[in-house]
Amino acid sequence: AAIEKGGYDHFMIKEIHEQPHTIQDCLRGRLDPAAGTITMAGVENHLQQLINAPRIIMVACGTSWHAGLVAEYVFEELCRIPVEVEYASEFRYRNPIIHKGDVIIAISQSGETADTLVAIDRAKEQGATIFGIVNAVGSSIARLSHAGAYTHAGPEIGVASTKAFTAQLAVLTMMALKVAAAKGTIDVKRYQHLCAELAAIPEKVALVLQKAADVKKIAARYKDARDFLYLGRGYNFPVALEGALKLKEISYIHAEGYPAAEMKHGPIALVDDQLPVVFVATKDSYHEKIVSNIQEIKARKGIVLAITSESDEVIPAMADDVFAVPEADEIVAPMLSVIPLQLLSYYVGVAKGFDVDKPRNLAKSVTVE
Ligand code: G6P
Repeated sequence: AAIEKGGYDHFMIKEIHEQPHTIQDCLRGRLDPAAGTITMAGVENHLQQLINAPRIIMVACGTSWHAGLVAEYVFEELCRIPVEVEYASEFRYRNPIIHKGDVIIAISQSGETADTLVAIDRAKEQGATIFGIVNAVGSSIARLSHAGAYTHAGPEIGVASTKAFTAQLAVLTMMALKVAAAKGTIDVKRYQHLCAELAAIPEKVALVLQKAADVKKIAARYKDARDFLYLGRGYNFPVALEGALKLKEISYIHAEGYPAAEMKHGPIALVDDQLPVVFVATKDSYHEKIVSNIQEIKARKGIVLAITSESDEVIPAMADDVFAVPEADEIVAPMLSVIPLQLLSYYVGVAKGFDVDKPRNLAKSVTVE
């Protein structure tokens, strides 16, 4: 087992550190930033359906559902197609309305999650086109889909999903770029810029991982907190949800993720000098807004831990702790901002003495409903 873990203490930390390679594997043979091409056979074969789709419905569970939420923002922005993101378990039981032409994107690491599988089976019966974004080759969801794209992250052993998530984001972003280019909803300059930004992600993830020891120190300071709040806006809102989920799964600390502005409609009542609030606040079009959200928390004596961009000088002056990631376009930033949150949950879990590869009550793949 020690050999399988490649010298790491746990599969989870090994898989976190694999991400520069897994994202690269996912992009390899598909994205050519110099030529400005994205090759994805599954997307090409269904390009007309995607371009003309009146609606895209993302169906998934858990971390994969969070990837779907990021993709909602990306597809709506780049492709101008309305997107809905559904928990598979809710979608399958409520007699959902599916229009002719709707495209369902099923997202799953294992390809075996029962709720996701049944949900797409029902939608298929009603005539929807099913596109699978799956990690496990030949899995049930991959086989049931009309078309798809594998995430090529390799086997994920740690129960808490890490490398599968960033690979899902990479695939979904390539897919959105390809559809947007074919549909004409993105201009050439922005398309080329985003291709280059995506290609630069593996290297930037490696830079973030070089500073893992900084997250370990932060984890030691925060590990005894009873609750955590995670806040983000825009593309980083789903990252806040994912950060909170990771902490719950691995360290058994209650954590909530919220859109940063929505917190004044409830969670702000929880803020006191004992509550760590993690802001996912890399530089993007929401930056000024999130700065005022940080002020709102500081005014109530909350403890602020911020994930920022390296060039940011405003937030470090306000926050109690800061972890900076390299600059990146907001569309691809979640692949960077999620890394310190994965590390934080890992190091808090380890510091508390838990078996992070086998968190209690959780299963790697939920094949029962
Ligand atoms: C379980 C796992 C999660 C995963 C979710 C969905 O809850 O513990 O890590 O995100 O299932 O799994 P899938 O394989 O469909 O992505």
